Amino acid sequence: MKTMSLERRGITTSRLALGCMGLGGSWNNDPLTAEDHKRTEAAVEAALSIGITMFDHADVYCMTKSEQVFGELLATQPGLREQLVIQSKCGIRFADEHNPKRFDFSKEHILASVDGILERLHTDYLDILLLHRPDPLMEPDEVAEAFNQLVKSGKVRHFGVSNMSAGQMNFLSSAVVQPLVVNQLELSLAHLDFLDQGVHVNQKAGLATNFADDTLEYCQIKKVQVQAWSPLAKGIFSGRSVEGKSEAVQNTAKLVSKLAKAKETTPEAIVLGWLMRHPAKIQPIIGASNPERIRACEDAVKIADQMSREDWYELYTSARGNDLP
Ligand SMILES: NC(=O)c1ccc[n+]([C@@H]2O[C@H](COP(=O)([O-])OP(=O)(O)OC[C@H]3O[C@@H](n4cnc5c(N)ncnc54)[C@H](OP(=O)(O)O)[C@@H]3O)[C@@H](O)[C@H]2O)c1
Repeated sequence: MKTMSLERRGITTSRLALGCMGLGGSWNNDPLTAEDHKRTEAAVEAALSIGITMFDHADVYCMTKSEQVFGELLATQPGLREQLVIQSKCGIRFADEHNPKRFDFSKEHILASVDGILERLHTDYLDILLLHRPDPLMEPDEVAEAFNQLVKSGKVRHFGVSNMSAGQMNFLSSAVVQPLVVNQLELSLAHLDFLDQGVHVNQKAGLATNFADDTLEYCQIKKVQVQAWSPLAKGIFSGRSVEGKSEAVQNTAKLVSKLAKAKETTPEAIVLGWLMRHPAKIQPIIGASNPERIRACEDAVKIADQMSREDWYELYTSARGNDLP
C-alpha cells in the first residue's frame, strides 16, 4: 500500500495529526486561563499516548492563544519539541479599527508572522509553514523571496498551503523553489464535494459541487500531503446530537454506529478511517480536545487499512443522500 506523501518527502510523522485550534480557549484577547493550560496538557498527553506526533496550528487560532498555550507547555517539557512535527499557518489578518479582514501573502507579513509564531511556540524552527487561505493579491515571486529567507535563517524547514486549488499551487510553484509538501482542505463525510466533483464530470449534477478540478490528483502526482480539516465533522456522525439535521446525516450517524459495533471499534475510527481509505492517504487533522475523544481516534489507521470498497461506498452514498450516477 502507498505511504503518506510526507514520508516520501522525508518527513516522518503520524498518520493522524492533532489540530490545536481549540486549545487557546476563546477567540478574544483575554489572557489564558488555568483551564486552558489544563486542557492543552491533557489533549497533548492523550495525542502522544496514541502515537500522534504531528500538531497543527495557525497564528490566528484563538487570537494567537492556541500557539501561546502550546508553547508554554513545550517550555516545561525539555526534549519534547524535537519529537514533534509542528506545523503552523499565516496569511489571515482579522479586521481591526482601521482595516477590513484580509489575506496577506506579502513578504513582510509572512516574515513577521513566522517570528511571532516561533516566539509563541517557544521554538526556533517550524517543521512546516502553510499559507492559510488563497490571497488574490499573491505574487509568487514575493512569496518565494520570503520562503528563501526563512530557509536560509533556519526558521522554517518545509512549506505548504491550505484551501488552495491545483491551479493556485501550480502558480505558486512557478516561483517558489521549495516543494509544497501539504495542502490542507475541508474534507469529511459532511463535506463531500471533493468526491462528488469527480463522479459528476460532464454531468449537470456536477454544477452543484464546488471543489477545484484535479486538486487531489495534482497533490498525489506531486507528492503533496492532503490533510483534512474538520475531519470529524464536529462529531455529527460520532455521537453529537443529530436533532434537526438532514435525513442523510441521521442515517449516516446510524450507519457509522452500526459499523463501529460490527468492527468492535469507535464511531470516530469509522469516520476517520473512511477518509484515510482514500488513495491520497489523507491525513486527518482532528480538532478534538477532549482526551477520551482523542483516544477514540486511535483505531482509525487500522480501520482505514481494513475498510472494504463496499463499506466505503455505503458510507459515501449514505452521507451524500443520493445514489451515485
Ligand atoms: N486550514 C483551515 O482553513 C482550517 C479551518 C478549520 C480548522 N482547521 C484545523 O483543523 C482542525 C480540526 O478542525 P475542527 O475542530 O473544526 O474539526 P473536527 O475534528 O471535525 O471537530 C472537533 C470539534 O468537534 C467536537 N466534537 C467532536 N466529536 C464530538 C462529539 N461526539 N460530541 C460533541 N462534540 C464533538 C470537539 O469537541 P472537544 O474539543 O470537546 O473534543 C471539537 O470541538 C483544527 O484544530 C485546525 O487545526 C484548519
